[in-house]
Parts: sequence; structure tokens; C-alpha cells
Amino acid sequence: MLYIGIMSGTSLDGIDVALVEITSQTNIRLIAAQTYAFDMSLRTDLTHLLSSKAHSFKCIGEATQSLTLAYANAVNHLLTQQSIPPTDIAGIGCHGQTVWHAPDADTPFSIQLHNPALLATCTGINVIDNFRAKDLAHNGQGAPLVPPFHAALLMPYPEQVTQRIIVNIGGIANITVLPSIAHNRLSTDNELVGFDTGPGNTLLDSWCLQHTDQPYDANGKWAKTGTVLPDLLVRMCADPYFSAPYPKSSGREYFNQVWLKQFDVPQYLPADVQATLVALTAHSICSGIHQATPKEFNKNASVQWLICGGGVHNDMLMSALNTLAPDNVTVMPLEAIGIDSDVLEAMAFAWLAYCFDTGLCANAPSVTGAKQQTILGSKTFA
Ligand SMILES: Nc1ncnc2c1ncn2[C@@H]1O[C@H](COP(=O)(O)OP(=O)(O)OP(=O)(O)O)[C@@H](O)[C@H]1O
Ligand SMILES: [Mg+2]
Repeated sequence: MLYIGIMSGTSLDGIDVALVEITSQTNIRLIAAQTYAFDMSLRTDLTHLLSSKAHSFKCIGEATQSLTLAYANAVNHLLTQQSIPPTDIAGIGCHGQTVWHAPDADTPFSIQLHNPALLATCTGINVIDNFRAKDLAHNGQGAPLVPPFHAALLMPYPEQVTQRIIVNIGGIANITVLPSIAHNRLSTDNELVGFDTGPGNTLLDSWCLQHTDQPYDANGKWAKTGTVLPDLLVRMCADPYFSAPYPKSSGREYFNQVWLKQFDVPQYLPADVQATLVALTAHSICSGIHQATPKEFNKNASVQWLICGGGVHNDMLMSALNTLAPDNVTVMPLEAIGIDSDVLEAMAFAWLAYCFDTGLCANAPSVTGAKQQTILGSKTFA
């Protein structure tokens, strides 16, 4: 069966579309994928929605329609390019654009914009969406949703690998700690763990835009001209989010320019702040992994940290992770094991659509803190 996954993340860099063949829960094959950059005016509207507190319903409605049409164009373009008719596609799994994620509010909620009826009509394909709501209804964080997909795709391990940890560095960074394997057996006290470790690229992008007028620091080149400021790093790392126990998830509502302002950053050289923000992303990822795997590994254990998301292209960030990783860890881009790391999240949403259609519970209570497993999503027929 063919499914399409659509993901547009918090970085607002574009729309990732993946066409995936799924023949069972663990038999998943990427057929084609593409990232479609947002056009400037949509990006500006969405950035505005993500950054200010009061919005008119008119703005929200207009942005939702424009975004959905962009999703539909992306799907139709990819299918035309692949010469595949929409009738061959079982469903689209669409994440939508998160504009507010508040799982720890008194009345928890998470809002993703998009219009499933319009998407289904414009593509002629059934749409499955609203994946976070049911997990939240069961008192979960509604996030991250991808760890069970990572397990389906990346387990069992090759013989020489003891454990895999997937590190997705998008706007926010999240980790999936897959169960470790000893002597070909799952260790008894292991379960799937995954959570947001804190900022990925979001602070890097906004600081870079403010000081260089570029939407991101290509390959970390600008950051490399700066020096990590140890005092600033220590103050940032003291934020309670990093030491809070998981399950936990975060977003741009928390890690943003306002968060950065509390550290009085204008007193420093901008490139030094950028370098320190790279270090913050690396340190918070490593401390998240440490939190999730407190026991020392057997020295012979062979652990892979598989890095995906846009942060994999930031050389300074990759070398910081390499430096911080323990000796028995190999840090490598997910690409190194033959998986396109830029579209992994879009693939996950194709898989979530498959799980909905086949009645599989796709949330992991050990990850989200939900009271029970549940089927995720709602369906709109074309
Ligand atoms: N060549 C590059 N050099 C440095 N950083 C890059 C490069 N290419 C992409 N990035 C970073 O990756 C970001 C986009 O990453 P990605 O698409 O994984 O994030 P996202 O859309 O926010 O997804 P998520 O849902 O995981 O948060 C860009 O905003 C930029 O910061
Ligand atoms: Mg993206």
C-alpha cells in the first residue's frame, strides 16, 4: 500500500512530502520524497502566527487555507513527477503546522493548522490527521509521535550494534532511545523512551536571521567564527526544562527570542552567541541522552547516535556532538545507514496514517506519558 506523509516543522523552512510503500507495520520503504520551500508570504504569515500572542480569526483562516493549498500542490507535484495516480494512494498522513503546543497547561492542548477537507478534495486522496489529540486526551504529551516509527524502521539491529539512539535536530531537538540489545535479547528493563531535549535549530535560526539576515547559518560557518562562552552556556543549561524528568515536550512557545533575552545576550559578540547556542543544542541533546540512559554501558557495547533533521548539516553542531559522545558511541548521520534523514519525519506521518487505517495503536505511553495505548488520528474521505 502506498501512503504519503506530509510534515512542516517548527523551523518553517518548508514542506516535506514522502511517498512510502508500507506492507506491514515494520516493512516500510521510501519511494520518493521532496522538500518544497514555503513561498515567502506564507512563511511570513506563519512566522507571525507563531510569534505573536493575539491573532484574528481572519489571519488564522487565511493562513490555514494557503498552507493547505501548498500541501496539496506539493502532493500533486510529487505524484505527477512519479507518474502515480492519486487513486493508487491509500491515504495522506498530515501533521499540519504546529502553532501552539501546550501539553502542560491546566487544560492541555496542541494546535496544528491545516484543512483536511480541502486537502482531500484538492488531491483526491483520503486524509488522516489530528494525530496528537487522542494521546493528549489520555493525559499524554501528544508528542513526540515518531519514536514508535523509529522502532518499526530501525529495529532489529545489525549484529554488531547494541543500541541505537535517534537524534532529530529540527526546530526543536528530540531523541528516541530504542531498547538496547544484549546477546540478541532485549534487556529486561528497557522500553522505548523519547522526548524533546530542548532547542534544535530554532534559537540558532532566529539569532542568525537577526544578525546576518540569513534564515539559517549554512553549515554552521558563521558559528565557527565565534567562541563558545562558558559562563553563558552554564546559565542557559541551568534552565529547568533540561533537568525536568521526561515525558516532556517543548516548542517555539518556550524556546524563542524572549527566552534568549533573559541572558542579556546583546552584551556579547553575535558570533560568540551563535557558537554558544550551537553548544547549548549539543549539550542539551547529550544531557537528554544521559537522562534516558543513566547506566554506564558495557565498554564493548556498540552504540549508534543516528542524527537526522536539518541540524545534521551544521558541521559545528556535528563536531560538538562527536566531542561530547562517550567512547563507545559512533555519531553518524542517519544517511550513513541508507535513510534520507531530511524526510524521516514525513515518512513517520505516512506510517501513522497506515497505523490508523489498520487499527494499530501508534502512541507509546512510555514516551508520551499517556495512560494507555490508543489509535491516533481522524480521517476525512476524499
Ligand atoms: N546546510 C545547513 N546548514 C546548517 N543548518 C541547516 C542546513 N540545512 C538546514 N539546516 C537547519 O535545519 C532546519 C530545518 O530542519 P528540519 O526541517 O529538520 O526542521 P523542522 O522543519 O523544524 O522539523 P521538526 O518537526 O523536526 O522540528 C533549518 O531551519 C536550519 O536551521
Ligand atoms: Mg523542515
